[in-house]
Parts: sequence; structure tokens; C-alpha cells
Amino acid sequence: MTDMNTPNPLRFIRQDIQSMHAYAIQDSAGMVKLDAMENPFSLSPELQAKLGERLGAVAINRYPGARIDDLKQALASYVDLPEGHGLMLGNGSDELISLLAMACDVPGASILAPLPGFVMYAMSAQLQGLAFHGVPLTAGFELDEAAMLAAMRAHRPAITYIAYPNNPTANLWDAAVIRRLIAEAATFGGLVVMDEAYQPFSSKTWLDEIRANPAANANVLLMRTLSKFGLAGVRLGYMLGPQALVHEVDKLRPPYNVSVLNAECALFALEHAGVFAQQAAHIREQRSVLIEALARMPGVTPFPSDANMVLARVPDAQRSFDGLKARGVLVKNVSKMHPSLTNCLRLTVGTPEENAQLIGALPQVL
Ligand SMILES: Cc1ncc(COP(=O)(O)O)c(C=O)c1O
Repeated sequence: MTDMNTPNPLRFIRQDIQSMHAYAIQDSAGMVKLDAMENPFSLSPELQAKLGERLGAVAINRYPGARIDDLKQALASYVDLPEGHGLMLGNGSDELISLLAMACDVPGASILAPLPGFVMYAMSAQLQGLAFHGVPLTAGFELDEAAMLAAMRAHRPAITYIAYPNNPTANLWDAAVIRRLIAEAATFGGLVVMDEAYQPFSSKTWLDEIRANPAANANVLLMRTLSKFGLAGVRLGYMLGPQALVHEVDKLRPPYNVSVLNAECALFALEHAGVFAQQAAHIREQRSVLIEALARMPGVTPFPSDANMVLARVPDAQRSFDGLKARGVLVKNVSKMHPSLTNCLRLTVGTPEENAQLIGALPQVL
């Protein structure tokens, strides 16, 4: 019962938040789950038991401490952190994206990214009250260099996001174009964030560019996550870049953003990086199997992928999505995300058995 004299308890909740929808997570109970770019492989029973022992011994009564530094060290050596660079941790790269919007919230600041792209770039801008400028990709999902440069010159964005490879199109973009965008951002002090969430499946990493030419990448931050690597449930993202830059963003991080359990799990995974590398290799092989099968289906157009997902155009995405779901296969219908994605489904690469189920079911639901 609301009393006429009692103010509405939502009164101070921002109107734009009250109007927005929460991030939708599809119900996947009992389904073949090919909707969220997760690694489909679980740990062997032996590794599960070892991990259980490790986690059981963690001091959960204490706030995270020195183990977080151990994890930073382990990641620094895993990526062979370039000279003069620092590394910070996020509770998933989602958190890093939010922290960056917060860090760059100076008057007039904005965020720019190609579209279609990862939704959190625009959302982080909106939630922080920054303008977001989306620049459409070309019809073939390449960067539109002229449009990107024009938008960068017009808006001088604080942050330009380049997902490498991109979600949901799964492709890498021309390195020469990216170099020119980074150089353009540098003229007005803008940051470029190379988001390598799908790095385990990619044929290229911008880290090689940073190593080869650190001066040209002085305004570049590189973000990665252990989510697609195989630890989506653990929530661990990391970002590296010139030490002075990372040092500033790191000040915004909630002091205990990575739990002792996240940290111990991530350390364990890095100690067994070979197991995860094998899984990634397996997924890359399966990606070829899936793309070849899709290409043989009349009316289906798969796009090239450097990630653990394949974007495919079908005659009627809603019908195919519903039909797959009715057959127990959950994918993502991205056709409403952007006009260029009309009738597109995003298919996560699964285990050979899961992919076989998808490949078997799709022709029946086209
Ligand atoms: C391009 C891109 N960046 C970042 C993320 C977020 O990853 P995390 O699980 O680390 O928050 C995703 C997740 O799908 C993504 O596609």
C-alpha cells in the first residue's frame, strides 16, 4: 500500500534506468547451449578434484590480498607483458569497460565504436551519461575507414573500441586501417581499446603490433578475458597498456573486485594453460567443420570467423531460431541488433556432438 504522503521509493532512480531493459540471459536449462560463446569443454575429473582441493584451502574469511598480485604476475608472464606496460584485473572485461567510461567522464567526452558490435560499449556510455557514437560497418562487415575517421574528427571520442575479432560478426579487421584509426585518435589524445575477448581463437593479436611499435600504440589499451578461454563462470578480465595509463584506470577499481576464488581458479587455469590451449585448438577445428557444413546448406551464408562463433545469414532467422530451440538447440538471434544483421544467427562453436546436433537440425528449420 502506498501512502499518498510517502514519496515513491523509485523517485531518485534515474529515469533512463527505469526505462531500460535488463541484460537478457536466455533460459538454457536442458538445452545445447550455443548462444554465449562459452568454451563447451569441462575439466577432466582429475583436474576438477585438484581444483576443488585448491579452492577448499583458500582463506575465504580474508579479503583478497597477495594472491591477486600472484595472478597479475602469472598473467603478465602468460602474455609476456611488453616493457613499460602495466596490467589490471576486472571482474570480467565488462567491469573494465564500465571503469573506462567512468575514468574518461570529462566534460564533452564520448565513446565511439563500430556497429554492430559488443553491446556493453554503448551501455557503459549510457550508464555513465556519455554520448555514444556508433559507426556502421560496411555491408561486408569491414571497418568503414572514411566513416570512422570522419566520426572521430567530428566527435574526438575519449575512447574508440575496436573488438579484434568483433562480436557478433566474428571477423578481424584490416590492421592498416586500425593503425590509421589509432594515429587519428592520438592527434586529440583519444584512447583506443583493442578488445581481444576472442584471442584464443584468433589468428592475430594486437600485442604483436604493440611490441613491434610501442610509440605508435602509446594511446592503446588491450583488453582480454578468461571467459572465452574457458572460465566464463569465473569472471576474470584483464587490461594492459602503458603503465601510467593503466595506473590511472586502476584507481577506479573497487579494491576487492576479484574474489579469492576467482583468483585461485584463474591461477589454476594458467598453471594448466596447455589444457585450455588444446581445447581452443579443438574449437578452431570445429569452427571449420561448422562453417563448411553451413556453406553446404542451401540458403545459408556463413561469414568468416576468427572467434568461437559463426555468424550466418538464413532465409528467416526467427523461424530458424524457434525451430532450433524446439529441437533443444539454443543459439542467438542477432537479426534485430542492427539493420546489417537482418536474418542473421550467431552460432557458438560447441563440442563435435553439439555441432552435429546443430548441423543436423538447422536444415529442418530453414
Ligand atoms: C567483444 C567482447 N568483449 C568483452 C566481452 C565480455 O567478456 P567478460 O565475460 O570478460 O565480461 C564479450 C562477451 O561476450 C565480448 O564479446
